Amino acid sequence: MKNFDYNIPTRVHFGKGQISKLRGEVKNFGHNVLLVYGGNSIKRNGIYDQVMEQLNDSDINVFELSGIAPNPRIDSARDGVKLCKECKIDVILAVGGGSVIDCSKLIAAGAFYDGDPWDLVLKSSLIKEALPIISVLTLSATGSEMDGFAVISNMETNDKLGMGGEILKPRVSILDPEYTYTVPANQTAAGTADIMSHIIETYFHDVEGAYLQDRFAESLLKTCIEFGPIAVKEPENYDARANLMWAGSHAINGMISYGTDVGWSVHPMEHELSAYYDITHGVGLAILTPRWMKHILSDKTVGKFVDYGVNVWGIDSSLDKFEIANMAIEKTYDFFASIGIPMNLREVGIDEENLEVMAEFASKRGAKYGYVSLSKEDVLEIYKMSL
Ligand code: NZQ
Ligand code: ZN
Repeated sequence: MKNFDYNIPTRVHFGKGQISKLRGEVKNFGHNVLLVYGGNSIKRNGIYDQVMEQLNDSDINVFELSGIAPNPRIDSARDGVKLCKECKIDVILAVGGGSVIDCSKLIAAGAFYDGDPWDLVLKSSLIKEALPIISVLTLSATGSEMDGFAVISNMETNDKLGMGGEILKPRVSILDPEYTYTVPANQTAAGTADIMSHIIETYFHDVEGAYLQDRFAESLLKTCIEFGPIAVKEPENYDARANLMWAGSHAINGMISYGTDVGWSVHPMEHELSAYYDITHGVGLAILTPRWMKHILSDKTVGKFVDYGVNVWGIDSSLDKFEIANMAIEKTYDFFASIGIPMNLREVGIDEENLEVMAEFASKRGAKYGYVSLSKEDVLEIYKMSL
C-alpha cells in the first residue's frame, strides 16, 4: 500500500428530512447565498420549496442562478462568477446532480480569480481560493457531493475537461435518498453505471498490498449490482436509493483510492464522446467499459479480472482464469443492458465520423496514463468495438 494524506472534509447530513439542517449550515458561512440549480426538476418535485423554506430567514439573502445544463457549460459558470462578484456572495448552495455541483465548484473558484474562469479549467494550479460550497444532492452518480473534481464543457471548442482541487470539496452535503425518488429510470441506470465506473477505474490498479481498498471497492460494486436494478424498477424504494447514494459518495471520495495508484482510462474516452455528442455520461461509460475490459485482458491483467469475477460476480474460482475473466466481462455488459442502457454508440447517435479525432484527444488527455496505457490506436479500436 502506498502512502497517502487522508482528507475527506465534507460534513454529511444523510437521510430523510435532513434538509432541516440547511438553515444552520448556511448561516455558519455568512448571509449572501448563491442558489445554483439546473432545469425545472427541483421545482416539479418540491425540493426547491423545501430549500427556500430553509433560506427564509432575516439573516439570509438569496440570489439565484438556474438553468445549469447536464454536462455543464462554461457560460453558466461565467454568469455565476459575475453574480458572486457583484452580490458579494458568501456561500454557494448547489441543489442538483453532478452538473450543478460541478458548475458551482468552478464558480466558487472563479469568484477569487480575475481572468476568464476557463483558465481555471485548463490549469487547476491557478485555483488558490474558493467560496464554501454546500450541496443538496438530487441524483446519485458522480460523487461530486464529496469530491474536489468538476468537469466543464465548452461546446464551441468540443472540449469537456476535468479540473480539481482540495479546496473545491463541498464543506457540507445534504444527502436525502427521498430526493432521488423522481430521478427517471434512464438517469437512475446511467447514475448506477457512473458509480460502478468510478469504482472499476480505481479497482483496476497494480499496487501490491492494498487489500482493504480492494475489498471496499468490491462491496461498493456489489451494492450497485444489488440496488441499481431495484431503484430502476421501484423508484421509491428507500433502501435502494439510500444504498446507491452512499455508494456513489464513497466511490470517489478517496476511501478506495487512497494508498493505490489510479490512472483512469474509460472516463477520458467517455469525456470525448460527451464533448462531441453531448450524450449522458453514465451511458457512455456503460458502453465503453466492457469493450475496454476486453481490450486490456492479457496475461498481465488476468489476475485482477479473476478477483473481479469471483468476488464481485460470484463466478466459480476453480474455472480457468481466462474463462473467469471473460465471464466477468460478459456479466458486466449484461448488467448494464439489463437496467435498460443502450449498449452501442450508434444507438446514442454516434457513428465513425469523429472517432479518430476523439481517440487522439482521449489518449492524450488521460487514457495514455491509465491502468493499461492506451494509445490513440487502442482507443480507436475500443470505440470501433463499441459502435
Ligand atoms: O436540470 P434538472 O431539471 O435538474 O434535471 C436533471 C438533468 O436533466 C435531472 N435530475 C437531477 N436530479 C433529479 C433529476 N430529475 C428528476 N428528479 C431529480 N431528483 O437529471 C439530469 C442529469 O443531471 P446531471 O446533474 O447532469 O447528472 P449527473 O449527476 O450524472 O452529472 C453528470 C455530470 O457530472 C460529470 C459528468 O461528466 C457530467 O458532466 N462528472 C463529474 C464528476 C465529479 N465531479 O467528480 C465525476 C464524474 O465522473 C463525471 O465526469
Ligand atoms: Zn463518472
